[in-house]
Amino acid sequence: MNNLTTLGEFIVDKQKDFPGSSGEFSSLLSGIRLASKIVSQQVNKAGLLSHIVGGAGSENIQGEQQQKLDVIANDQFIKALTARNVVCGIASEENDDFIKINETGRYIVAMDPLDGSSNIDVNVSIGTIFSIYKRKTPVGTPVENEDFLQPGTEQLAAGYIIYGSSTMLVYTTGFGVNGFTFDPGIGVFVLSHPNMKFPDSGKIYSMNEGNFLRSSKGVQDYINYAKTIDEETNRPYTARYIGSLVADFHRNLIKGGIYIYPSTTNAPLGKLRLLYECNPLAFIAEQAGGAASDGKKRIMEVTPTGLHQRVPYFTGNSAMVEKAEAFIAAE
Ligand code: AHG
Ligand code: MN
Ligand code: MN
Repeated sequence: MNNLTTLGEFIVDKQKDFPGSSGEFSSLLSGIRLASKIVSQQVNKAGLLSHIVGGAGSENIQGEQQQKLDVIANDQFIKALTARNVVCGIASEENDDFIKINETGRYIVAMDPLDGSSNIDVNVSIGTIFSIYKRKTPVGTPVENEDFLQPGTEQLAAGYIIYGSSTMLVYTTGFGVNGFTFDPGIGVFVLSHPNMKFPDSGKIYSMNEGNFLRSSKGVQDYINYAKTIDEETNRPYTARYIGSLVADFHRNLIKGGIYIYPSTTNAPLGKLRLLYECNPLAFIAEQAGGAASDGKKRIMEVTPTGLHQRVPYFTGNSAMVEKAEAFIAAE
């Protein structure tokens, strides 16, 4: 690969990792690449266009207000994935049930089309998260619930797009993690972060500490540990919390840190969704040498029971996740 490798070239080059591949999977990734360019453009315009910013006046299945940009992003990704004819079904945060598409498609996609909605109106980084699986039911039949309720260990690929000070697409197919930065001048994603790995040690912790008193003793103990002064172990850690999972995760991946959304007394399963938030980022975390846990066990081994299932979430540098697990086990 030369030093100006585009995402398009990279996808084609990596097809050789899947011997006998028909190119359908590459076509799926290209669909995601296209939709993310369109959404990136809409995100950049959001502050200018009153019809994009603000609530859409409808609620999604979790009773949350949908933002207009949520709806726009959802439509764009669904359109791009439908056009490729390789996807048989999509589960989205914005749709109560899964969407059936092409019965001849071999893949299913789970996605959070717009993550960090509360940050849209205030010009703060937001993102998209996606996860790709092979269907369980036979090709040529309608897609079923069981196609979506697969553990994260079955993921073929996962990734996110961060719409930040620049737009980046980061993804894995199980052979490491690569990050591409969008160059709006020429309209392409360029490989800017090859083979991404968490730094050896981290010193950032990211949790909505407004939930501190509603968290378990183990989580409180870990947060207090993070704040304790101890030069040898680089503490106190630095607190950073954006409120967009993608942005918090991305920063911690580059700088080293842990992201925590624990169970709380109000939300015993936490807030984040297993299929289209936790599992895809867990796959990336593990491929980058990190870890992802529900506080007790590996996230990717949780058997899903519902499309919009929530799960407590701890992800980042392995040593930090293990430490948090140890405090929880000791509580
Ligand atoms: P979404 O915008 O897709 O609903 O996700 C929001 C999530 C996640 O991005 C973020 O980390 C978390 O909600 C923030 O929750 P709090 O406001 O409770 O901290
Ligand atoms: Mn989200
Ligand atoms: Mn969302």
